[in-house]
Amino acid sequence: PLSDPFVNSVDTDWALEGNVVWIRSKVDAMRDRTPDRVPLQIGGEFIEGDDEATATDPSRPGHTAYRYGLAGHHQVGRALDASVAARKDWNSAGVESRADILAQVAVRLAEVRGDATAAMVLDAGKSVMEADVEVSEAIDFANYYARSLRDGGWLDGSGFEPLGTVVVTPPWNFPFAIPCGSVLAPLAAGNTVILKPAPETVLSAWVMVNALWDAGVPKDVLQFVPCPDNEIGRSLVSDDRVGAVVLTGAYETARMFLSWKPEMRLLAETSGKNALVITAAADPDLAVKDLVRSAFGHAGQKCSAASLAILEAEVYDNPGFLRQLKDAAESLRVGPSWSYPSMVTPVVREPGEALHRALTTLDPGESWLLEPRMIDGNPCLWSPGIKLGVTPDSWYRRTECFGPVLGLVRARDLDHAIRIQNDSDFGLTGGIHSLDPSEVERWKELVEVGNAYVNRPITGAIVQRQPFGGWKRSCFGPGAKAGGPNYVAQFATWHDAGELS
Ligand code: ALA
Repeated sequence: PLSDPFVNSVDTDWALEGNVVWIRSKVDAMRDRTPDRVPLQIGGEFIEGDDEATATDPSRPGHTAYRYGLAGHHQVGRALDASVAARKDWNSAGVESRADILAQVAVRLAEVRGDATAAMVLDAGKSVMEADVEVSEAIDFANYYARSLRDGGWLDGSGFEPLGTVVVTPPWNFPFAIPCGSVLAPLAAGNTVILKPAPETVLSAWVMVNALWDAGVPKDVLQFVPCPDNEIGRSLVSDDRVGAVVLTGAYETARMFLSWKPEMRLLAETSGKNALVITAAADPDLAVKDLVRSAFGHAGQKCSAASLAILEAEVYDNPGFLRQLKDAAESLRVGPSWSYPSMVTPVVREPGEALHRALTTLDPGESWLLEPRMIDGNPCLWSPGIKLGVTPDSWYRRTECFGPVLGLVRARDLDHAIRIQNDSDFGLTGGIHSLDPSEVERWKELVEVGNAYVNRPITGAIVQRQPFGGWKRSCFGPGAKAGGPNYVAQFATWHDAGELS
């Protein structure tokens, strides 16, 4: 199945009525079903956890979406034992057989697209459109990493050793694609994996791991171990049998992991405070469209989201541009995730301190271009907000808020805009809108972000074409980008690093 060249998976075409009818039936069934309990899977057995927790549906405050089991200390220990015992067979299964299984995973993920989308609509509060593209990305990871084995000098099976057991701790904001890619890459390199899903989105991860098992990943090679974020979670990530930990989450979480075990091999993609620069040479229609999508897609909760737009003075001072931006943001349909056409859906939980402040408070010099409103009395559901007058040193400019708020900063010229953009501890994504090639070249040379985008949204990296990863405090570890050439290779020790392609 790997003889063909890699091609990206195609998203569902929502212009076709049949597709809308299909997804509505999937989402309705998921919404209306009786909550049940997601088990753990340890050593090939589906078991109850020592404890249990509930997941909520952000579109229906107070409603329990489902329950899931939580591992206790003893169960974490059993999972670690089982993963050590499973290493030998998986490693000796060989590179070609693992590549074949990954290719089968891609097929199976496509088959569960509807259920996966519905699960994300339920527990992550994702819109149907945002959830659907995540399934495509997961399929791409499977196909791409399968090909990485063929193309990356692995096929004779010598010259490298897997790291052993890899613990994967993914985020809730991409509850399907990120755990999928983070699990498949270490598996491809011959490691065993323990997945500790994000507590908010256990069901979405559950649909994903079932697809992998169905496709032939052995159950003891990939175990599913939700566990609490206390000393039990700590005992999992800091155990000496763990060869590497993959984290996508907050910078503070990465620091905490390292404080537990300084010698830990940690591969982490962490926080960001991302900006899109718009110069006077931009196409305003395109810039507004891409800015609104980058800022308000998944209610601004992507690590890649634009929470700042740095506008050159001529753009910032143009009432026509600001009106167009406000109109575009206001035109987005705000609603519950299970209503198919909703574009801005609830945030995953009631806003914490930072997001609440961003949604409700202005700092000196700031004003609302568009004031956010709580919708339908749901404390998780907010219409988009746009702040004017955000200054480079303000609280909002410095704080990752993870919600549907955008701040506009005025810059004197392009160099000033780049200075503001780079004046951040983080460097995940960033973009420029300009039709002037010399401006674009200058920006590309100077900007300090992992993913730098020109005249396109700054969210939605595409596997192979735009491998994803951060710079500065947005990245821990060797920094190979997800969906890019060396991502799988970093899960092995190479006897001769010169062999790495
Ligand atoms: N890969 C995700 C994006 O690019 C985070 O938006």
